[in-house]
Amino acid sequence: MVLRIPLSDDRLTATKTIVVVGATGHFGGRLCRRLVGERNTELVVSSRSQSSAQSLAAELQSLDPSATVHAAQLDQAAPYFEKALKDLQPDIVIHTAGPYQGQDYRVAKACIDCSSHYIDLADGRSFVQGFGSLHDRALQRDVLLVSGASTLPGLSSAVIEQFADRFAALHEIEISIAPAHQTPRGTGTIAAVLSYCGKPFEVLCDGNWITMHGWQNMRGQRYPTLGWRLSGACDVPDLGLLPGYVDELKTVTFHAALEAKWEQLALWTMGWLTRVGLVRNWTRLVPAFRWLSNRLIGLGSDTGGMRIRLAGIDGEGLNKSVTWLLTARDNHGPEIPCSPALILARSLAAEQLAIRGAFPCLGLISLSEFDTEVAELAIDWTADESS
Ligand SMILES: NC(=O)c1ccc[n+]([C@@H]2O[C@H](COP(=O)([O-])OP(=O)(O)OC[C@H]3O[C@@H](n4cnc5c(N)ncnc54)[C@H](OP(=O)(O)O)[C@@H]3O)[C@@H](O)[C@H]2O)c1
Repeated sequence: MVLRIPLSDDRLTATKTIVVVGATGHFGGRLCRRLVGERNTELVVSSRSQSSAQSLAAELQSLDPSATVHAAQLDQAAPYFEKALKDLQPDIVIHTAGPYQGQDYRVAKACIDCSSHYIDLADGRSFVQGFGSLHDRALQRDVLLVSGASTLPGLSSAVIEQFADRFAALHEIEISIAPAHQTPRGTGTIAAVLSYCGKPFEVLCDGNWITMHGWQNMRGQRYPTLGWRLSGACDVPDLGLLPGYVDELKTVTFHAALEAKWEQLALWTMGWLTRVGLVRNWTRLVPAFRWLSNRLIGLGSDTGGMRIRLAGIDGEGLNKSVTWLLTARDNHGPEIPCSPALILARSLAAEQLAIRGAFPCLGLISLSEFDTEVAELAIDWTADESS
């Protein structure tokens, strides 16, 4: 866990400019609504469309008339992107414009070039896993770059850190997320989860690397607060990162458990169509999926959850497990992926985070910081320990 530097009351930090790339998106918008009015900050909300950025800026300004909010047009695919970002003179850039699968590090490199810190919500496995390649360049410019400051691996690694001391050896980590059906689906998220539908990926299982396929490997998952759900395997950064992060780890799995069984079965079937070669890539159908899923959003509940089961050996050589179970009610679940990025952005803006370099978001936030960040939301968790 990276220590925060306490600020004395009389030491006010200089005003920091925080630029959000993808601010009009599902998670970008939520993040901006929670960030607006942060002490000693100015917020720049960006979109590929100037008018969309201006509408969002006006909405945020009305939430907090004392805040300073600007609008900017930024397209990370445009030739002018680096110059346009530099002109904004950012201190911190939060990049929420997924999908990250297939993206390069253009936004992060542009941040290094203008000596800005950088945070993203990436869930692309190779994107997050390869992020350390920017480490030396980030050190040279004295900036912090963090990838995956979201549920995975930001929050998941905070949970592992919290309970790791219960184990002499931690052998198994099983993670699952069960979103509420009423959660709106952003284009970036749908594109991300369809990008690996039916595609093979490697998973550490009982000490061996085995192949799973996206949305296959169907399992039943019991959530005490949600009931039984079907779940499918997803290709997420934790699968590649945790074996190098936790000594003696033998198994790490991730499953997503959708509330609507028909939706889970549809993804499982689509995965098979890809495996047998009938459909190579589902991402062309992202707009259709978004249209359909947002029309059917009323067919489920506003409650979702996340479970992480840790298992291994305790100090006396006995089997030990910890099951961490989060429940998010009142449609507050989508606030979770924004929270690790917000924690880091607030710490950087307050000059409380001294670490520099480029890292995947492993152990960079603590579970108590997460609790503080979501304290006013209908989000709580329990941990059940057994020997
Ligand atoms: N790591 C995790 O645990 C985790 C959890 C949840 C979500 N995520 C990821 O978070 C990402 C965001 O998801 P979301 O549902 O919020 O997506 P979204 O609603 O589609 O938002 C992304 C926004 O990015 C902007 N954008 C698109 N292309 C751009 C470009 N070339 N340059 C600049 N901006 C661009 C778009 O705004 P304009 O059209 O206005 O430009 C769009 O609204 C996804 O990739 C998702 O997988 C990760």
